[in-house]
Formats: sequence, structure tokens, C-alpha cells
Amino acid sequence: MLHSGDSVTQLAEPLVGRDAELAVLEGLLDEAREGTHKFAVVSGEPGIGKTSVLGELARRAEDRGCLVLEGRATELERALPFGLLIDTFDAYLESLDPRTYDRLVADGLEELAAVFPWLRSLGAGSAEPRTAAERFRAHYAVRELIERLAARQPLVLLFDDIHWSDGASLELLG
Ligand SMILES: Nc1ncnc2c1ncn2[C@@H]1O[C@H](COP(=O)(O)OP(=O)(O)OP(=O)(O)O)[C@@H](O)[C@H]1O
Ligand SMILES: [Mg+2]
Repeated sequence: MLHSGDSVTQLAEPLVGRDAELAVLEGLLDEAREGTHKFAVVSGEPGIGKTSVLGELARRAEDRGCLVLEGRATELERALPFGLLIDTFDAYLESLDPRTYDRLVADGLEELAAVFPWLRSLGAGSAEPRTAAERFRAHYAVRELIERLAARQPLVLLFDDIHWSDGASLELLG
């Protein structure tokens, strides 16, 4: 049973009749693990099993040694700038040991702190970016962060319920 607080990786019920979808996603996963960027959109009617498919993909990716980070947009957080990105990355950034942190984050600290509360709480940088130039720098810094993460370990980012996403996250994903 799916409760509202469940994350996609916590779902454990066996999936029925999704072999074709999972085969496509697994093919993309294999190519991504070889070093090519891959991108897939999972769409469908309410309750049809999108979150479940993402959960199965997450399990398979973790079994193959990928780092899986997942975020979910919610109606209530629609007004929170970068809410979806925060949900995806903030707790992971908080969990980093100091050396990894230096390698991954230190360069773009000021710009990343404009997006992620954990980095702001450490005393870094600024409030949320307002001008187009500030937003562009924040997007660039997140992109760099993703590239550095992916250079260490195959990386799978899962964004669930994007239709509820805040505008800042959508702009960045775009
Ligand atoms: N292929 C499947 N086999 C077995 N159970 C499934 C399958 N797909 C979905 N379910 C079950 O149906 C319910 C709804 O699935 P899920 O939450 O994944 O759908 P969703 O498309 O993400 O829904 P929403 O649009 O509300 O986000 C869950 O209880 C899930 O375990
Ligand atoms: Mg869902």
C-alpha cells in the first residue's frame, strides 16, 4: 500500500504486467552506466503505477551500483522555490563527509547555497536567486554538481509528480 509519505524506493510489492516498460528503462539504465546521459518521462493516468515503476527502477539501479536520488513534488510545496530539487538533493548533501563535500560542492558553494537550505544553514551564501543572471548561475552550479556526482558513480535522478513542481525547479530541469 502506498502512503503519502512513502518514497519510491520503499515500495516493495511485485509489479504485474510492466515488463515492457521496465525493459525500456533498464536498457536506458545500462546505457547510462556506460557513460551516456539518458532521459525518460514516465506518464499516465492517476494510479496507473508511475511511482511503482520508478521504485522498481530505483531498486534495479541500486543493485547495479548506481547512486539513486529521488525527489517528489507536492501540491503543498508548490510555492517553495526549488522545492523539488531540495527534496532530491538536500539530505544527500547533508550526509556527505567533509572530503567528498569539498570535492563536490565547495567550488559552487555560493550559488548552490542559493538553492539548498542545508548549505545556507552552514553559513554559506545567499538567499534565493532573483535576477535572471543569479538564476542562471544557480542552474549552472546544480548542473556542475550533477556532473561531479555522476563522475564518481553512475547517477539516477528520479523526479516524481513533476506536475506539482515549483516553477524554479521546472525552469532548472528545463
Ligand atoms: N503493475 C502493478 N502491479 C501491482 N500493483 C501495482 C502496479 N502498478 C501500480 N500498482 C499499485 O497501484 C497503486 C497505485 O500505484 P502508484 O502509486 O505507483 O501509481 P501512480 O501512477 O504513481 O499514482 P499517482 O498518479 O496517484 O501518483 C499502488 O498501491 C501500487 O502498489
Ligand atoms: Mg505516483
